[in-house]
Amino acid sequence: MSYIATCRAGLAALQAKKEVNILAIESSCDETAAAVIQNGRKILSSAVFTQIPLHAVYGGVVPEIASRAHVDAVDRMVDYALNEADMKLRDVDAIGVTYGPGLVGALLTGVSCAKALAYATDKPLIPVNHIEGHICANYLTHPELTPPFICLVASGGHSHILMVEDYGVYRLLGCTQDDAAGEAFDKAARVLHLPYPGGPLLDKLAQQGNPGAVKLPTAHTPGAYDFSFSGLKTAFINAVHTMEQRGETARPEDLAASFQHAVVKALLDKTMLAALDHHVTKLALAGGVSANSGLRAAFEQACQKAGITLYLPQLKLCGDNAAMIGSAAYYRLMRGEIADLSLNAKPALRLV
Ligand code: KG4
Ligand code: ZN
Repeated sequence: MSYIATCRAGLAALQAKKEVNILAIESSCDETAAAVIQNGRKILSSAVFTQIPLHAVYGGVVPEIASRAHVDAVDRMVDYALNEADMKLRDVDAIGVTYGPGLVGALLTGVSCAKALAYATDKPLIPVNHIEGHICANYLTHPELTPPFICLVASGGHSHILMVEDYGVYRLLGCTQDDAAGEAFDKAARVLHLPYPGGPLLDKLAQQGNPGAVKLPTAHTPGAYDFSFSGLKTAFINAVHTMEQRGETARPEDLAASFQHAVVKALLDKTMLAALDHHVTKLALAGGVSANSGLRAAFEQACQKAGITLYLPQLKLCGDNAAMIGSAAYYRLMRGEIADLSLNAKPALRLV
């Protein structure tokens, strides 16, 4: 029997198994990660190798360096994840892997590794969308969370408001028209001379600053639930330069707090509007920016006021990791979504 025929023949038995353990691999950007996840909800192990120090000197991710570093680290991360879960490769039931969106060379490393492991062991290969992974980080943090709910996904490359209608069923309500929220944070941080990735450092500075120090514009977008951050970013850069030219000294803490306040307000206002219009009772945040302290606090307050239950991913699951990919892979496996060995990296893969 061919590899895929063997996997399809064993699928029903696997779906009926009480405990399904998935080895997941993530390599879409600058983190090489592997994890073992049980039934989409329980982290048996999770290993993340961050390449940030390799890229920081260049002020951003260098794709070629990322690909090489993934090749170097991926086997070690898989071994580490299996050891930590006290398992051998033969003990896992399937292999999940991020196949997009992301950097093509980076994605290819994870996809090639996953294909080799799946083929060598005759275990199903499960293709996972990275954005779906971010949403599923909430299933790991909150075992009681089930669809439907609204999710704001804010990362370095994406800013979406999605209606999660069911596992794997998403409806796009709004998205950014230009820059992603994380990208805007990183660009504003650069103006404040913070090293890459500046988002977390800007967040730290902002905690000591006055959010009303610099007035920044609110963007108008065609869709009620859409975002636009490029005008805000330009207004911020201009405000900082004008101050410098006038010889005015603004506290970096105040500049950071003002910028963060403007981004958080946009994300909060649009997402809450979508939640209220759609009469949802549950709202989740996902993606790297969901680690932002101002964003978390603002949503906590607004959701409490609106009587909506808020789900925040654990801080260590906000950024890129393989645990979230293992969760998404489980629900795909339950729907029978497995791939054959022609699976390829899809850098511009969409969720909806
Ligand atoms: O989800 P993620 O790890 O990678 C992508 O899929 O893009 O998101 C990374 C982004 C970066 O832009 C980073 O600066 C931003 O998330 N980020 C933050 C914070 N932590 C990470 N932005 C603002 N505040 C934070 N605390
Ligand atoms: Zn990500």
